[in-house]
Amino acid sequence: MEEQNEPAQSEPETHGQDAHATTAPHQRRKRYGGKNPRRFEDKYKEHGADAETLAKVLAAGKTPAGTHRPIMVAEILAVLAPKPGDVAADCTLGYGGHARELLAKIVPGGKLLGLDADPVELPKTEARLRALGFDETVFTAHRSNFAGLPQVLAAQNLAGADLILADLGVSSMQIDDPARGFSVKLDGPLDMRMNPQRGQPAAAVLQKIKTEALAELLAAAADEPHAAELATALAGKSFTTTLQLAHAIRAALPRLGREDAELTARRVFQALRIAVNDEFSALETFLRNLPQCLNPGGRVAILTFHSGEDRRVKKSFEANHVNGLYADIAREVRRPTPAEQNANPRSSPAKLRWAVRAKE
Ligand SMILES: C[S@@+](CC[C@H](N)C(=O)[O-])C[C@H]1O[C@@H](n2cnc3c(N)ncnc32)[C@H](O)[C@@H]1O
Repeated sequence: MEEQNEPAQSEPETHGQDAHATTAPHQRRKRYGGKNPRRFEDKYKEHGADAETLAKVLAAGKTPAGTHRPIMVAEILAVLAPKPGDVAADCTLGYGGHARELLAKIVPGGKLLGLDADPVELPKTEARLRALGFDETVFTAHRSNFAGLPQVLAAQNLAGADLILADLGVSSMQIDDPARGFSVKLDGPLDMRMNPQRGQPAAAVLQKIKTEALAELLAAAADEPHAAELATALAGKSFTTTLQLAHAIRAALPRLGREDAELTARRVFQALRIAVNDEFSALETFLRNLPQCLNPGGRVAILTFHSGEDRRVKKSFEANHVNGLYADIAREVRRPTPAEQNANPRSSPAKLRWAVRAKE
């Protein structure tokens, strides 16, 4: 795995085991209260990835602990049309679900660069893809923000890529691991950093932010209708854990019913995550760099999960279509089929847009 732009870091300890691991040492069965384990660490059967358990969890519309279900795979393959010999960049490698599908189509002769900001999950995904037989000649892993895609390509002596994919936001491995502090439901440190070795955790961001700035953030990054009230209640306050913040959000708006309160808490968490990881400026830099990173005739597909992301992608694609850098762009967003949304509710907010680089 290669580090881009930043000094190499030691890899922190993580919960759970690789879902595809086959040689885990024998462990005594863990005890937990109730019929089914509720805590991420106790879902040992899912972490151990026996096929029957995985099939049951998937059939229930859930994501097995420590894994991620790739979204709109068929639609993305149709848009990117990968073929043997293509150079591909998966800018949000995550669990490697999309990458695996692309790799299968670009061999022989092709190469995929997998980028991810997350130093916790990236080595595990790299090991999984290696175990599937994708060696360094066809797949390289890069711990890099996708804003640094031009540098990653240059370091590989590549002028550009034929296919580029970005599947924005966080992975299920990140959300479901309480230690990462992304989840509104699971108690953990209020962190939310995709790279826990860089920047400031959400607790520090919230403690330092001014009321007006938080109100602006909640409106811009989550279209939060109660932005001003929530900002008054939360800005400058000290919260250590995710559940402390979730309780404070509910307490700030006691008139809301359970469902509305839950949606509000999710929006606040989303906005904070965007601020903690500087997601909008990374996306804007990525979109600006994209045309120069694509080979003539190259294709890009981007999956977004909220309006702040989709607006930016749409605007950039349209501007570069007008100026001739893109020969064609998606006229409308594509959404997951009802069947996919049903089978994997986490796919529901997804929107797919694509663009094709002009041949010059
Ligand atoms: C939705 S997941 C991708 C899942 C992946 N497509 C799969 O099939 O498993 C998003 C991933 O993008 C990474 N990520 C988000 N923003 C990033 C950025 N600016 N640069 C690099 N990686 C980023 C996250 O760490 C996470 O692993």
